Amino acid sequence: MVEITIDGNVYEAEEGATILEVAREHRVDIPTLCYLREINEIGACRVCLVEVEGIDHLVAACNNEVTDGMVVYTDTPRVRRARVANLQLILSRHDRRCPTCFRNGTCQLQALTDRMGVHEVPYTTFFETKPIDARFPLVREPEKCVNCLRCVSTCQKVQALGVWDLVDSGSRAHVDAVAPDDCAFCGQCIANCPTGALHERDDTERVFDAIFDPDTITIAQVAPAVRSS
Ligand code: FES
Repeated sequence: MVEITIDGNVYEAEEGATILEVAREHRVDIPTLCYLREINEIGACRVCLVEVEGIDHLVAACNNEVTDGMVVYTDTPRVRRARVANLQLILSRHDRRCPTCFRNGTCQLQALTDRMGVHEVPYTTFFETKPIDARFPLVREPEKCVNCLRCVSTCQKVQALGVWDLVDSGSRAHVDAVAPDDCAFCGQCIANCPTGALHERDDTERVFDAIFDPDTITIAQVAPAVRSS
């Protein structure tokens, strides 16, 4: 066991536990977005940042283990500013026409935004719409993806498949279906997506029409209900 101080309170914790796990065990609130326990603990979204005494930079609570004597602060002005900035950056790459999205009201990103009181995005909004892969049994809307990689981890760790993966690098890095034919139709990637980036096809007839010309088919053509405003 190790001893850790969070916001002035001293706790005993199992060696190997993350800061987030210990905080949650003691009802200390730390927001998360990409985190899925034992499935996706990759520290992608940086929404769970905390301050640790002796470390200059802020650290992600979800994938940093506690050490004996660690002193953590979860709610300082610096932490709050950084979380908000990271959330705003995520939102700047996200299609925020929420009223037209099927996840409106059940979207974890939307809920987090409300909870953190983020009502403005001071960055240029940029997202790409891409043609869908018409051979694929799901619809993926890349402009709603926040690159949390939950779908990638879920497919790999829960289904032992590799339908999704991160492709390209740097600012061009994005999730894509790299093995669509392997899809087991389990729907777990959809269930674990925090936004409306993944969903079942809801316009089968149009998709079958589209299958012969996948390069020219857009999501708007396949699932117009999602895009109409
Ligand atoms: Fe920790 Fe995303 S929840 S980095």
